[in-house]
Amino acid sequence: MFVPQILRFESLPSTNLEAARLAGQGAAEGLCVVAREQTAGRGRLQRQWLSPKDAGLYFSILLRPQLQQSDWPLLTLAAAVAAHDALWDACGVQADIKWPNDLLVNEKKICGILAETVETPSGRAVVVGIGINLTQHAFPATLTLEATSVETVTGRSDQLEILLAALLAALEKYYAMLNQPGGRVEILEAWGERSSYLEGKVVRVVEGGDSFVGTTRGLECDGALRVETADAKIRLVRAGDVTNLRPELKS
Ligand code: BTN
Repeated sequence: MFVPQILRFESLPSTNLEAARLAGQGAAEGLCVVAREQTAGRGRLQRQWLSPKDAGLYFSILLRPQLQQSDWPLLTLAAAVAAHDALWDACGVQADIKWPNDLLVNEKKICGILAETVETPSGRAVVVGIGINLTQHAFPATLTLEATSVETVTGRSDQLEILLAALLAALEKYYAMLNQPGGRVEILEAWGERSSYLEGKVVRVVEGGDSFVGTTRGLECDGALRVETADAKIRLVRAGDVTNLRPELKS
């Protein structure tokens, strides 16, 4: 359980960086940082997360998990489940979860999640950063091939506050679930119920300098994706980038 405490900013380089800085100063679990814009928004795999003013929800939460370190990857899956439910509850947006924690609508990204560990005087903590696109007006045209927004899907872009409230409620729910006995399995099941990537998806995996094609075959108990290659071997993916090789037509 955490008690949310929300700090709001007009502009920050990155809400993740600010949450990590405050974690280093002893901030408590549940600290949330929200900004209207980010000037150096961070994505997975050293990518940039474009964060124009009022075009998205730019949110980070500080967690100080009591879980075994080996279970910490499940935090990002739990965050994806929470973001999925928040989009549905607040905006009526039905998203698919792409492993590990991208949220897609019509194969285009609507939400990204970046979890980063941070060493603090009171122990190792995690900052979970969530970016949800509300509108695409300020995005370059090239990005609209890959990204979508709540506005594109529903016609509305004014739901930041209700989305934030739904996100906090869902994060509390699934974080509490993860901390209960048997919670790991429940999170893995919840993730699988919301993802078309769990089983039978033909994907390309890029992991470090390596790239291969295979078919998804469920999750390991630590959240790693099982991918079966043409020689019928199972490879476990823990840090790579996964792309659907047979996408439906994009709208
Ligand atoms: C990704 O899909 O690559 C992850 C994107 C995560 C973006 C969010 S926006 C709020 C938080 N602050 C950051 O700098 N990044 C995350």
